[in-house]
Amino acid sequence: MQSKNKRAIVTGGTRGIGKAIVKELASKSCCGVLFSDVAFIYNSCDECAAEIEKEIGSLDTKIIGFKADATSLEDAQETVNAAIEKLGGVDILINNAGITRDNLLLRMSEKEWDDVINVNLKSVFNYTKAVIKHMVSQRYGRIVNIASVVGLIGNAGQANYAASKAGIIGFTKSVAREVASRNITVNCVAPGFIETDMTRNLNDKQRELLLQNIPMKRMGNPEDIARVVGFLCSPDADYITGQVIAVDGGMTM
Ligand SMILES: NC(=O)c1ccc[n+]([C@@H]2O[C@H](COP(=O)([O-])OP(=O)(O)OC[C@H]3O[C@@H](n4cnc5c(N)ncnc54)[C@H](O)[C@@H]3O)[C@@H](O)[C@H]2O)c1
Repeated sequence: MQSKNKRAIVTGGTRGIGKAIVKELASKSCCGVLFSDVAFIYNSCDECAAEIEKEIGSLDTKIIGFKADATSLEDAQETVNAAIEKLGGVDILINNAGITRDNLLLRMSEKEWDDVINVNLKSVFNYTKAVIKHMVSQRYGRIVNIASVVGLIGNAGQANYAASKAGIIGFTKSVAREVASRNITVNCVAPGFIETDMTRNLNDKQRELLLQNIPMKRMGNPEDIARVVGFLCSPDADYITGQVIAVDGGMTM
């Protein structure tokens, strides 16, 4: 039995997959024998953050929201320092913040490209850079980056998003090689088609088409992703690094 909680930072934690990850890491059942105090990063909706602190925080676990723009390295460094001070350290980082700005390349603006690359890919550099020194010096760390199956197989209308997610996969494998000897693992979870605000705008026809490509014939839910993230942070996954685990109902097999 671990004598103290692990300390985790989750970017984009106020809704969807990020919120489910905060819950999973904070729950006693997470990781079999350990549970985590969690600092989550959000860039809007103070009420949602306060609700999560109240709903998920308990006597056993501290849940603290930090408002910051994940695209800024300076913000990331400040937020990580503040989280480390409040939680007493950092053992786990989950890079989850992400957006879509879909368009065919012919119509895609420079802003749509830059916004997606900055939120989805640069934020992963920012937060990993901000925690890595601490993890190296304590000789322990678990980093999980939320990529997407689109980073593996591409998707028409999502060249910016696919590039950002493929970039995350390359980043993960490179950093995993750099820090493996320090007992730090770096892995990716690549979700398929998950029911969250990000996918809510699809119309019935688009949904039907997508479901045709999913052998399990259902969309995933945020908890499907969160449980795999919890596993990768648990002692059961201590010898897994540099991997991409697709959680997609069989979409990319
Ligand atoms: N929903 C899906 O089908 C799906 C599929 C594959 C991958 N993903 C990935 O999973 C992750 C979570 O997606 P979701 O579906 O829960 O989306 P969501 O839109 O519900 O949540 C995204 C989160 O990111 C945060 N965020 C966005 N920009 C930010 C910024 N600049 N600074 C800080 N936080 C910011 C938002 O506040 C929100 O909490 C994303 O990286 C997404 O690309 C989702």
